[in-house]
Amino acid sequence: MAAAGKADLLIKNARLIDGSGGPSVKGDLGVRGDRILAVGPGLQLEAAQTIDARGKALSPGFIDVHTHDDRAVLVDPLMKCKTSQGCTTVVTGNCGVSLAPLAIDRRPPAPMDLICAEPSGFYERFADYMMALDAEPPAVNVLAQVGHGTLRLGAMRSLERTASADEIKVMRGRLEESLDAGAVGMSTGLFYPPAAAATTDEVIAIGQALMKTAAMHSTHMRDEGEKVLDSLQETFTIGRGMRAPVVVSHHKCSGAAAHGRSVDTLALIDAARATQPVGLDAYPYVAGSTMLNSPRMLQSSKIIVTWSQTRPNFAGRDLDEVAKEMGTDRAGAVERLVPAGGIFFMMDEKDVQRILKYEHTMVGSDGLPHDLHPHPRLWGTFPRVLGHYVRDIGLFTLEEAVRKMTGLPAAQFGLTDRGRLRAGAYADLVLFDPETVADLATFEKPTTPSAGIERVYVNGRAVWQDGRATGTRSGRALRRQQLGTFGAPMR
Ligand code: ZN
Ligand code: CU
Repeated sequence: MAAAGKADLLIKNARLIDGSGGPSVKGDLGVRGDRILAVGPGLQLEAAQTIDARGKALSPGFIDVHTHDDRAVLVDPLMKCKTSQGCTTVVTGNCGVSLAPLAIDRRPPAPMDLICAEPSGFYERFADYMMALDAEPPAVNVLAQVGHGTLRLGAMRSLERTASADEIKVMRGRLEESLDAGAVGMSTGLFYPPAAAATTDEVIAIGQALMKTAAMHSTHMRDEGEKVLDSLQETFTIGRGMRAPVVVSHHKCSGAAAHGRSVDTLALIDAARATQPVGLDAYPYVAGSTMLNSPRMLQSSKIIVTWSQTRPNFAGRDLDEVAKEMGTDRAGAVERLVPAGGIFFMMDEKDVQRILKYEHTMVGSDGLPHDLHPHPRLWGTFPRVLGHYVRDIGLFTLEEAVRKMTGLPAAQFGLTDRGRLRAGAYADLVLFDPETVADLATFEKPTTPSAGIERVYVNGRAVWQDGRATGTRSGRALRRQQLGTFGAPMR
């Protein structure tokens, strides 16, 4: 493939994994400005800088489709937890929780406090949040959703009931305004207290705003345990009611009574996909993480405290040990630790593997960047899939793993110019060593950067290199108006 002109950067002799899932080829890739100039075997290109990438894999930058990085991208803009994994784009505003649009004068209730405990950290208008990102861009691209929990908190005096017609009108209006300002869609967290009283009809009524703009909807479903199949049905009903593509967030079967049920959930998703756009994501661990005072407590074999406002020194400790020291049980300990967060061991490895392997499953970290002792998924998700699940146990091919992290999410979120190695696309790239790539973040040492991620480029510029952040912040706040169709099928 010949290309005219000089490249800024030429990466030679790499194993090119293009994001489509198809077989990799050995070849070169040239970058000019923020775009891929040319890609293929034997490029004849003059370049200002040339890198020999023999033995290394070059792929599109990874897209973390499930994050709680809303505030992290502003207060920690180098975003090392993500760039060190090869991530170049993050989707924020998940699980019903977003920084905007919300005016609040007190500490927000859990789980809103997972992204921000300070009332002053929230943005009354979504446009202001987007402009804050424009003014101080992070190292990664950002796609932002509006949280249904955030809307409820801003529009309702009491969250323990379903919204009135007037409140729904207010929420829908704020959602419309946010979509106009560039939000990519709305997420729900019907599992959580601030939204648990919302009915299916309430969500659909607010989500009518999505229909007009062809935006998307993602959900932390009402139940991921014994009633997970009912929750999937509700999710599909909501998607049809809004006429919006839906994404089932961090799909799992939680608690021993639900173990093994992924056989049925995936069959149900398959059946639904025949008539409506449905996507899903998962993280590669048997433990989840959220606020500590969660119904998850009863479903978990083990719990680790990730932070506690009242007793910060207990971060990283086993909850049962903490309870013993306090001379009480789990519930008693939680009462003394809240507001607090925890890691919950509640899944079966077979379900995790079956869900990860499913053709339509994307990878999303669900990392919690403000936790004192976070779940290792925050720093380890993507290398863990490439190292542990691909190389060590052979769950699927490297090309398939990269597709789940790039081409598939790009198609799901309408990122028509990202997620693939092709001339003209944005140069979001990751160069890694398939032989050594591995997650090093553990439940004991959760903030250890991964091995084998050598160089990461965002919009043509290196953000991670030689084991550290370069200091470059070339990410962009991406607006819905710049994107293509959501939920587009790929393959
Ligand atoms: Zn969630
Ligand atoms: Cu989440």
